[in-house]
Amino acid sequence: MLGKKVPAVTFRTRVRDEAVGGPNPFRWQDMTSDDYFKGRKVVLFSLPGAFTPTCSTYQLPDFEKLAGEFRALGVDDIYCLSVNDAFVMNAWAKGQNLENVKVIPDGSGEFTRKMGMLVAKDNLGFGMRSWRYAAVVNDGVVEQWFEEEGYSDNCESDPYGVSAPQNILENLKARAAA
Ligand code: BEZ
Repeated sequence: MLGKKVPAVTFRTRVRDEAVGGPNPFRWQDMTSDDYFKGRKVVLFSLPGAFTPTCSTYQLPDFEKLAGEFRALGVDDIYCLSVNDAFVMNAWAKGQNLENVKVIPDGSGEFTRKMGMLVAKDNLGFGMRSWRYAAVVNDGVVEQWFEEEGYSDNCESDPYGVSAPQNILENLKARAAA
């Protein structure tokens, strides 16, 4: 994906809107790839599932904690994407008290499929999900790419290393120093 543009898709998000009223004041809001990526430098990380152990214990909270360091290196936003619907992603974001990382629901898997990162996880009863990867995306173009090794369907393990925020920060710092 290095040097390529991220796919143009529409994400179905749910946003809070008091004007809706009632006990569940949320509405649908379509967000396009341009809305997320155009004219900004972002770190995107994508993982196999909301609420899963590695993602919930390490990857997402570590990105949240290290957001200030990313910002200092010129990153405007950090996005966490998963092939989960907006209700699940919002519940996960709330449970993690996110203030810095924004979640992107790719419920249909269209973005992930077009990124070439959709894998079967039927061995876990998950269906189609995202392989774990991260990218630095500048104005919609992939500038740096961090894909976990062993991309495959029904993978028995869940590799996690190169897409950790600590590794991405090291790479951003090395670039800044070069
Ligand atoms: C994990 O993040 O630990 C995990 C991800 C996918 C399947 C099972 C566990």
